[in-house]
Amino acid sequence: MNASEIIQNEQTLMPRVYAKRPLMLVRGKGALVWDDKDRQYIDCTSSYGVSFLGHCHPAIVEAITRQAERLIACHGSFYNDVRSELVRKIVEVSPKGLDKVFLSNSGAEAVESALKFARRSAGKPEVIAMMGSFHGKTMGALSATWDKKYREPFEPLLPGFRHVPYGNSEKLRQVVTEKTAAVMVEPIQGEGGVRLPPAHYLTELREICADRNVLLIFDEVQTGFGRTGRLFASEHWDVVPDIVCLGKAVAGGLPMGITIAKSEAVSTLKVGEHSSTFGGGPLVCAACKASFDLMTRERLWERAAILGEQFRHGLERLQSSSSIIRDVRGLGLMLGVEFKFDVLRIITECMNEGVLVLDAGRNVVRFLPPVVIASDEIDRTVSVLGAVVEREERARLRSSATE
Ligand SMILES: Cc1ncc(COP(=O)(O)O)c(C=O)c1O
Repeated sequence: MNASEIIQNEQTLMPRVYAKRPLMLVRGKGALVWDDKDRQYIDCTSSYGVSFLGHCHPAIVEAITRQAERLIACHGSFYNDVRSELVRKIVEVSPKGLDKVFLSNSGAEAVESALKFARRSAGKPEVIAMMGSFHGKTMGALSATWDKKYREPFEPLLPGFRHVPYGNSEKLRQVVTEKTAAVMVEPIQGEGGVRLPPAHYLTELREICADRNVLLIFDEVQTGFGRTGRLFASEHWDVVPDIVCLGKAVAGGLPMGITIAKSEAVSTLKVGEHSSTFGGGPLVCAACKASFDLMTRERLWERAAILGEQFRHGLERLQSSSSIIRDVRGLGLMLGVEFKFDVLRIITECMNEGVLVLDAGRNVVRFLPPVVIASDEIDRTVSVLGAVVEREERARLRSSATE
C-alpha cells in the first residue's frame, strides 16, 4: 500500500474518533520515531504516555520475543508462572498495604475495575470525582470523567456520580454522604491541564475518606510508573490510597491495566463477579515484568526527576522571555506549558520542526517524553518550542498592528 492508500483506509474504514495529525509513524527507537519518509522526530508524547521506557526497548523486545515462543494466551482461570511472578513484583513495589492485583488491558478498564471493587466492597452506590478529571471513555470511567464534550453525547451515564472542584477538600467534605462508596482523583490531573494539587490536598482527602469510611481511589494511569519522579505520584505526598489504577506505561508499550487494592477493598468479591478474557495474559505479563524489573533495577524514576528538572528549567526560561506563555508546571517528565490561547498551531509547528508534543485541554502543551530521552534531546525540544513561540509572538504582533 502506498501512503495515500494507507491514509485513505484509516479514514474510510474506521470511525472518525481521533483528531488525526498529518503524520504516519512507522518505526521508533528510544525517544525517537520516524515517519514513512524517514523523517525523524523527538517523541515527547510517548504515544500518550505509553512508551515511557522508550520505543522498542531491547529488554521489552527480548521479553516479548522469548514469551511469544512459550505461551501467548492463558486465561485467568488457569495458573501461569509469568503472571504469578509479575503480581508478586507489583505488590513488592506498591505502597504498603496495597496487596491485591487485578490485571486488565487499558487505563479505562483499570478504572472500571476500581469502581466495581469500590461499590462492591462498600456496599454503597455513590462515587465522587473531580472537576477537570479524566478517567477514560468506557461508560463507568466516563461517568467519573468531567468534560461534558466526552459525556453529553452518551448520556444517561451511570447514576451516583458527582464532581467537586479539584483541590478543594472542604467542598469534598460537604458532599460525602452515607451513600458514598469512593472518592476518585488523579494525584496530578493530566488531560485536565497538568494540574498539581495544593500542598495538603491529598493528605486531607485521605483523612476525610478514613473518617467517613469511604474508599480513596488514585487514578495513576498517567502519573504512575515513574513518570513524575517517583514510582507512584502518591509518594510525593506520602499518601496511600485504598485502590490505585495504573495503565499506559506499565508494560513497555503493550496494552495493560493494573488495579491494585487493599485486601479489604476486594474481600467481598465473589468468583465470576469480575474478569477480563485477555487480562493478565502471559505475553503482556512478560513485557510488564521486564519493564518493572528494568524500572526497579535502574531506579528510572530518579532519572525522570533529574531530566524533568532540566526540562522544566528550560521551559521556565522560555516563559520568562515570552508574552504568550502563562504558566509552566508539572513534576518529573509530566510537564505542561499553558499559553494564553489555543495551542493547536503551536503543536503543529513543533511537529513541522521535528518535535511531537501533546495538548492537555485547549491551551496547554503537554510533554510526556520517555525516560530514556537524552539531555540534548530535551535541549533541542526546548529550543524548537522557543523558536515556535517567537514566531507566534511575531505573528500576533503583526496581526494586532494591522487590526
Ligand atoms: C488519568 C487517566 N485515567 C484513565 C485513562 C484512560 O486510559 P485508556 O485510554 O488506556 O483507557 C487515561 C488516558 O489518558 C488517563 O490519563
